[in-house]
Amino acid sequence: MGDKALTYARIIATGSALPERVVTNADLEKIVDTSDEWIRSRTGIRERRIAADGETTGDLGYRAAIAALEAADVKASEIDLIILGTTTPDIIFPSTACLIQHRLGANGCAAFDINAACSGFVYALGVADKFIRSGQSKKVLVIGAETLTRMVDWNERETCVLFGDGAGAVVLEASEEPGILATCLHADGGFKELLYNPVGVSAGFTDEPNHGVRIHMSGREVFKVAVKTLDSLVGETLAAAGMEESEVDWLIPHQANLRIIEATAKRLKMSMERVIVTVDRHANTSSGSVPLALDEAVRSGRVKRGQNLLLEAFGGGFTWASALLKY
Ligand code: UT7
Repeated sequence: MGDKALTYARIIATGSALPERVVTNADLEKIVDTSDEWIRSRTGIRERRIAADGETTGDLGYRAAIAALEAADVKASEIDLIILGTTTPDIIFPSTACLIQHRLGANGCAAFDINAACSGFVYALGVADKFIRSGQSKKVLVIGAETLTRMVDWNERETCVLFGDGAGAVVLEASEEPGILATCLHADGGFKELLYNPVGVSAGFTDEPNHGVRIHMSGREVFKVAVKTLDSLVGETLAAAGMEESEVDWLIPHQANLRIIEATAKRLKMSMERVIVTVDRHANTSSGSVPLALDEAVRSGRVKRGQNLLLEAFGGGFTWASALLKY
């Protein structure tokens, strides 16, 4: 009697942004000893977008945010929280979320970045969900944006073929209608050595090219742990939402490798027709990948209101995170 209705965080609109420049596998064949055949068969990637000189994470995140706000018909001044998942901030501080906030004209609301590597956007969504459920926030902008290619060593074929730049965003609103049903966030810093960038302000930089800024990745090991971890994450998320595999309409996974995505789809007993794949055109855009895939799925009309979406990501840390939501 007189029960207060539950408050959900509901996605009211999505947006995304990509740099203009397309770099194909054939382009990379000219700079490292690789082949289109190797890249496509091992990763599913055909091409990626690369930010122009001077084009930053904040530029891409801002454009994605504007697209989401326009689609939501929400003014920036109505936003009371901005969270940006990124590993490639424009500058060390202020946070890129603050830079985007100012450009949007949303000054005054809380704004901060989350660094959870490739899981950054899903982590940010999980945090935003808690702010809305607690009654602290009513309209939240959650962004995932990266210029990961700035960290890439273009002489190293093991990594340079894998990454791209891009951003996606969602506007979340407090609602009595279901939206986010469950989020699961995890990390295990014990895996640091398998995927990391070893330099920084406090640890210091080196005399190596690009001051030692470079992605170190043990690809095969990361692959194995990712598949296993995502397998159990999917089970945990379904249980948290009280849902069966068959009730999930779309899987919107982190776009690192088509073979990892296929393994997760198999675990969910889902055909690839119900999986959103953008890795072929975007490569791995880290925190940008899940919201980019979501926006593409929404704008192409595949994802419809009332459908259940499972979002998941895995990245350096290791971090892994998921969100099960009714769109
Ligand atoms: O987003 C966050 C997490 N990141 C990931 O999820 C990435 C996870 N890992 C992967 O996606 C895959 O492990 C990779 C795509 C990175 C690599 O695929 P793989 O099937 O695990 O290949 P591998 O590392 O075992 O390498 C196989 C061979 C090696 O040669 P040998 O030792 O067999 O002679 C590599 O040197 O392929 C060689 N190789 C390449 N050949 C052509 C590695 N990179 C390339 C390349 N072109 N770009």
